[in-house]
Amino acid sequence: MGTLNFLTGNQGKIAEAENLLGPLNWQIKSFEIEGGVPEIIEPQSDNLTTVALAKIAQGVELLASQNRLNESLLVEDSGLFIDALPNFPGVYSSDVLKSIGCEGILRLLDDERTAYFLTVAALWTGEAVEVFVGRCDGQIAREIKGQGGFGYDPIFIPDEIDNNRTFAEMTKMEKSTISHRGRALRALFDFLDENGA
Ligand code: IMP
Repeated sequence: MGTLNFLTGNQGKIAEAENLLGPLNWQIKSFEIEGGVPEIIEPQSDNLTTVALAKIAQGVELLASQNRLNESLLVEDSGLFIDALPNFPGVYSSDVLKSIGCEGILRLLDDERTAYFLTVAALWTGEAVEVFVGRCDGQIAREIKGQGGFGYDPIFIPDEIDNNRTFAEMTKMEKSTISHRGRALRALFDFLDENGA
């Protein structure tokens, strides 16, 4: 069984990656140094790929400092992009959720409601960095709907599933089949499967 170090303080992300592993023989482990998740500096950029690459570069330096450069390392960043609000919340999705919440986003929008979620996963294979992107297109709902999920799930209606349901009204399995994160991680695991990285 291979081990994939995941550089994140978010246990939910680790659980989602574990769920997606399915039949593949990879164990996901939180990347820790001396018992703690290391601090990573978030770069100033409105581009998720730039952010993920800057984080994996810092992670690789940390691996090197531990003489663990031959191990794999994963970082994953996601954001909600709303066409009517260029670059917002985008890379600031986490801070915007904390400050104005889903209600605040609904107040900012009129009839133009198209949006998408994007995930960029950057993987250090032990030799090189590979990038995987997942996207999910949809609409921002007119009201908060659903009890499940997290973050912006109660206001995001993906295009691919009927009945105008938000992510928060879906099962975890339904969401991960079409979600940005599900797509990026499946592409990553396909890569690991093929390359045994
Ligand atoms: P992160 O990079 O995965 O931490 O995502 C940044 C922020 O985007 C999170 O704090 C969430 O608020 C939001 N977000 C990311 N993915 C999702 C999702 O699948 N559903 C709802 N909100 C999400």
